[in-house]
Amino acid sequence: MKRSLHPRRGERRFGTAGAARFTAALLIAIALFACGDDDDDTAVDGLRFGNKGPIATEAGRGSFTFGVATAATQIEDENPDTDWYLWTAPEPQGLGNGVFVGEASRGFTKAIEDVELIRDLALDVYRFSVEWSRIEPQRDAVNEEGLAHYDRMIDALVAAGIAPMITVHHFSSPVWVDDPRVANCAGGPSDTNLCGWTHPQGAALIIEELAEHARLLAERYGDRVDDWTTLNEPVNYLLASYGVGFFPPGRSFMLSDFPTFIDAVRNYIRAHVAVYEAIKEADTVDADGDGVAAHVGFTLNTIEWLPSRDNAPSDRAEDIAAADRLTYAYHHLFVDSLIHGGFDADLDQEREESHPDWQGKIDWLGVQYYSRNGVTAEPAIIPVLNLMPCFGEFDLGSCVAPDDPTHWVPAMRYEYYAPGLYNVLVDFAQRWPELPMTVTESGLATENGRRRAEHVVRSLEQIHRAIEEGADVRGYYHWSLYDNFEWAEGYEPRFGLYRVDFTTYERSPTEGAEILAEIARDRIIRREVQETYGGLGPMSPEEDLEM
Ligand code: BGC
Repeated sequence: MKRSLHPRRGERRFGTAGAARFTAALLIAIALFACGDDDDDTAVDGLRFGNKGPIATEAGRGSFTFGVATAATQIEDENPDTDWYLWTAPEPQGLGNGVFVGEASRGFTKAIEDVELIRDLALDVYRFSVEWSRIEPQRDAVNEEGLAHYDRMIDALVAAGIAPMITVHHFSSPVWVDDPRVANCAGGPSDTNLCGWTHPQGAALIIEELAEHARLLAERYGDRVDDWTTLNEPVNYLLASYGVGFFPPGRSFMLSDFPTFIDAVRNYIRAHVAVYEAIKEADTVDADGDGVAAHVGFTLNTIEWLPSRDNAPSDRAEDIAAADRLTYAYHHLFVDSLIHGGFDADLDQEREESHPDWQGKIDWLGVQYYSRNGVTAEPAIIPVLNLMPCFGEFDLGSCVAPDDPTHWVPAMRYEYYAPGLYNVLVDFAQRWPELPMTVTESGLATENGRRRAEHVVRSLEQIHRAIEEGADVRGYYHWSLYDNFEWAEGYEPRFGLYRVDFTTYERSPTEGAEILAEIARDRIIRREVQETYGGLGPMSPEEDLEM
């Protein structure tokens, strides 16, 4: 085990800017919390959450939805048309990278029965992704069976009283978007290979195709779906797929050609804007009667970046500055581009490119938080930012062990740090006071159901704390419904509220599922539940806490 942490930087608090706005929001939040359900026993002691409401409009302030999230590739069985299948299938059929996705959690075959699992959790929302390659296995050839599958699933959700939220692009693409078998696209884009997000002509075609796909989903499902996520975690996705090449198509431009990597970032923002516009045009039905047919946002990965040096926390000015630069690139760059209609290609915190057509193309923001990681000012791995981040398994001098080893997440090799979620939410509320937020992913890889229950309660405590300080946070969706394919990490990390037996595919509820269901049903974390699971103290141990 490594050394424990030294004292940390103070947690962020609201400054004077926007204070009046937060005071007003706070009063509204308190009023709405106080209303609660008619049959609420207001004598019950605990942390109260609002009732379900719109995710994006002013009318939704003070409302709160409980949900759960998945992504198609991570749960759906046997889909040879997706890049992940080709990337992970054993050679010679596939490229043999990492663990084969194969059957995943049999979530395609079991899609309708899985709706019962969500109903049993008393949740308001199910966030899932539609696998693009099931709808368009070949370019421009729409597969009606694929569309019909998600149609049935959406019907089942609505019948169970669960609002569907669709993610359009969650880390996977049809093979024809950027064929991982083709190392260089010398011949230029073709119908079987558009050459990916860094190719000037290819990327423009992909953006068009993705927007067309989103339009089709909005036309088909818009009568029952109001809440849409365009893209999932742009920074993580682009880093893994085009930065360091751990995800298909396996391109690594980060060190060799940073400007090309930045081209992918710019193109992905363009894709968000194109998908946003397509959904807004094509989804014309207000399914839930809140007066708006489509609330469109995207989801952002966030990390509590801890200045560090030689595997220990650092209070050196250059490491603090490095952590701030990384926080900007990770947390602020993408949303700032949409709020202000511009792009900061050299990451110097000034937008030198003007893109007026991007401005305001975001109705709400999905915030996703899992860990605290180290960052040090040298050596430089992200050239233009001149810093070295720690992503757990790559211990190059910036990784740090937690103060309390029970907060270590062995399967992911990072630290769970509950207040980091609060820090992110108040930072965003201050930076973008008009932007409503929902925590669209929060979860823990663990074999221990009690530990998962602790994670649920502690995360919700931090969200509640942020709301009490005026942050406009309207929901919490646990990642994930059941154990699934954790991308390059394979099947070892278990993120499920339900445990999956990967031989029978049977799902069984964990203690985390029971506690989340109780909280979601009553819209309160009772004091006894807080005392048992909450706070910042030691967590129940994982079997193997090795760091
Ligand atoms: C992603 C999920 C992933 C989860 C847990 C998020 O970054 O959106 O697809 O499974 O984190 O690592």
